[in-house]
Amino acid sequence: MDVTFLLNGETVQVDAEPTQTLLDWLRVERGLCGTKEGCNEGDCGACSVLVRDDTGDKALNACILFMPQLHGKSVRTVEGISGPDGELHPVQEAMISHHGSQCGFCTPGFIASMAAGHSQGRTDHDDVLAGNLCRCTGYAPIIRAAKAAETAEVPTWLNDDLPSVSPAPYAPRNLEELATWYAANPDATLIAGATDVGLWVTKQLRDLPNIAFLNRCAELRETTIGSDDIFIGAAVTMTETLALARAHHPHWAEMIRRYGSEQVRNAATIGGNIANGSPIGDNPPALIAMGATLHLRHGNAERQMPIEDFFIAYGKQDRVPGELVTGVTIPKAAPDLRCYKISKRFDQDISAVCGCFNVTVSDGAVADARIAFGGMAGTPHRATAVETALIGQPWNSTTIAQAAAKFGDDYTPLSDMRASAAYRLKIAQNLLHRYFADRTGQATNVLEVTA
Ligand SMILES: Cc1cc2nc3c(=O)[nH]c(=O)nc-3n(C[C@H](O)[C@H](O)[C@H](O)COP(=O)(O)OP(=O)(O)OC[C@H]3O[C@@H](n4cnc5c(N)ncnc54)[C@H](O)[C@@H]3O)c2cc1C
Ligand code: FES
Ligand code: FES
Repeated sequence: MDVTFLLNGETVQVDAEPTQTLLDWLRVERGLCGTKEGCNEGDCGACSVLVRDDTGDKALNACILFMPQLHGKSVRTVEGISGPDGELHPVQEAMISHHGSQCGFCTPGFIASMAAGHSQGRTDHDDVLAGNLCRCTGYAPIIRAAKAAETAEVPTWLNDDLPSVSPAPYAPRNLEELATWYAANPDATLIAGATDVGLWVTKQLRDLPNIAFLNRCAELRETTIGSDDIFIGAAVTMTETLALARAHHPHWAEMIRRYGSEQVRNAATIGGNIANGSPIGDNPPALIAMGATLHLRHGNAERQMPIEDFFIAYGKQDRVPGELVTGVTIPKAAPDLRCYKISKRFDQDISAVCGCFNVTVSDGAVADARIAFGGMAGTPHRATAVETALIGQPWNSTTIAQAAAKFGDDYTPLSDMRASAAYRLKIAQNLLHRYFADRTGQATNVLEVTA
C-alpha cells in the first residue's frame, strides 16, 4: 500500500505492508532508533511519537500504529522534535535542567508526549504523561520539567508541519463506499484505532489479509449535538469523546479520563470499544445506563437498537457478517449518571469492575433505574433484579441495602487475574452504597476526600 506522510519535516512515500507498525518501520527500515520498544502493546509509552493531523497534535504509540493510519499526517520522532540545527525543543531543555532522565530509555517517549501536551497548551501533566512509564527517574522531576516549559513558544520548525497529500484509495472516504465494500467482504477486518487489532499483530502474530481502515470515513467521525440527544460516530476517538463528555456528562468524562492513557485515547474509538464486545470495555456500561441507541449498517440497510441488546453472550454480538457499527446516540443530559471504574492502578489499567448508575428519584421515591456493569459477566449488562428492588421504593439507605443484596441474582462473576468473584460481587454492592452517598451529597471520590 502506498503511504505518504511527513517524517521529521520531510515527505516520505512508502510501499508499506498494511499491518506494518510505525515502530518497526522507524527502527528497522529508517534506522531511527530513538523511538524505543518496551512492551510492544501500547502500555509503556516508550515508543510515543508526535503526530499532527487535521485535528491537531497528539502523542500516539508507534508500536500499535499501522503505517496506513499515517497517510496524510505528519510524524515527529525524538530525532525531529529537536530542530534541524540541533536546537532543543523547550521540553528537552527543561528535561535536562530539571534532571528528568537517568538511564534514558523512556525519555524519547516522554519527550514526544510532552511536546504534544506543550503544543496543545496543556497543564494537566499527570494525565498527559500517564501513558509513559519511567522505572528509574521518578515522575516529580519530569512533571517539574513539563511545568517549566509550559509558557515557552512552540518551536518554528514544528509549525511548518502541514502535510497535504492525496487520499489513499484503500481507506474509504464515505460511509456508502465503506458499507458496500464491507457487505461484499464480510470476512475483512475493520481497523479503527487499532488499540485492539494492533495487539493481534504484535502479540498474536496474526496475518490480516483483507482490511479496511475507518479513520478517513468522514461520516463515522462526525458528532451531532441535537436538542435532546447527541450522535457520536463510530470512529470518534476517546479523546474527542472525552471533550464531549466533559461538556455534557461530567461523570462519564471522569471515567474516560482513566481510559487507557493519552496515547491510547488518541487512537481508540468509541465504535471499536463497542464492536469488540469486550465484557470489560469501559464505555458499554455507561452507554447502557444512559439508555443509548446503537446504529448499525449492512450495505444500504440501516438499523438501530438499544445498546444493551447488542451484547448477546461472551464473544457474540447482534451484528451480522459485513455489518458495521456506525455510531451511538446518547441523551444530551443525564444528571443522575455516575460511572465508577475499579482497577488495580488508577491510570492506564483495564477495569476489574465498572459500575454505572442512573437512578431517577421523584418525591422521595425511586421512579426509574438503569444500572449496568462491566466485569461482572461475559457481557456488559443491566442489573435488572437490583433495579426492580429499587423502583417504587423510598430513596433511603434501607432500600439501598435491600437492593444491594440482589446483585447475586443479576451476576455470577468469575475469578481472574484482575479480581476474585467474591471481590467483584462485594464491590458491586459497595458501589450501590457509594452511589447513594454520592447522590446525597457525601464526598466519595478518594481525590475529593480530605482528612
Ligand atoms: C494499553 C491499552 C489500554 C487500554 N485501556 C482500556 C481501558 O482503560 N478501557 C477500555 O475499555 N479499553 C481499553 N483498551 C482496549 C481498547 O482501547 C478498546 O477496546 C478500544 O476502544 C478499541 O477501539 P479501536 O478503535 O482501537 O478498535 P480496533 O482495534 O481498531 O478494533 C477493535 C475491534 O472492533 C472492530 N471494529 C472497530 N470499529 C468498528 C466498526 N465501526 N464497526 C464494526 N466493527 C468495528 C474491529 O474490526 C476489531 O474487531 C486498552 C487498550 C490498550 C492497548
Ligand atoms: S512499546 Fe510500550 S507502548 Fe509501545
Ligand atoms: S530514565 Fe530510566 S526508565 Fe526512565
